[in-house]
Amino acid sequence: MNNDIKQILLTKEQIDDRVSEMGKQISEDYAGKDLVVIILLKGAAWFATDLTRAIDIPLRVDFMVASSYGDGTYTSGSVKVRLDISENITGKHVLLIDDIIDSGVTFAAISNMLKVHKPASLKTVALCDKSERRVNGLQADYVGFNIPDEFVVGYGLDYAGDYRNLPYIGVLKSSVYARADK
Ligand code: IMP
Ligand code: MG
Repeated sequence: MNNDIKQILLTKEQIDDRVSEMGKQISEDYAGKDLVVIILLKGAAWFATDLTRAIDIPLRVDFMVASSYGDGTYTSGSVKVRLDISENITGKHVLLIDDIIDSGVTFAAISNMLKVHKPASLKTVALCDKSERRVNGLQADYVGFNIPDEFVVGYGLDYAGDYRNLPYIGVLKSSVYARADK
């Protein structure tokens, strides 16, 4: 697994430090409010379970499975929901959590779907942001790291389902895609 990584972009220590800062910020911003966090599976599971443990105010957790990607490295542009939320978010303050924002299509589409339930507020959280790739001007409310336009894996991020369990975030070698094309 490690041999397929060209460069480590974010070490486990960098991620841990930033995640605890984000948790402190969110705890301050949402003190006294009814908070529901919605975790986009599968990728955001690693980040979000660490982030929620860094938040020291009461919250409820829900999950969604959405996908805009096939097995490649580019978005297909349409977002499918395979598992919807079960919590009632009407009148609640909602934080939607993903691992990375790329085109912005996923956050835009899921936010629109969630707004139908009339939450008191809806904000977005992403560990990584490839802002150069945005197609819709979307800006997340909480971002861990701005990263360059490279395909990254680890800490929940996958390539065709693999590499999620790497403890760091690294740039995948392009030879790995070449291998998959054969
Ligand atoms: P968007 O809809 O284009 O913003 O894409 C967001 C989703 O694309 C994320 O939830 C990831 O699943 C996936 N994604 C985007 N860039 C990467 C990457 O560099 N590595 C792994 N997954 C990525
Ligand atoms: Mg994803």
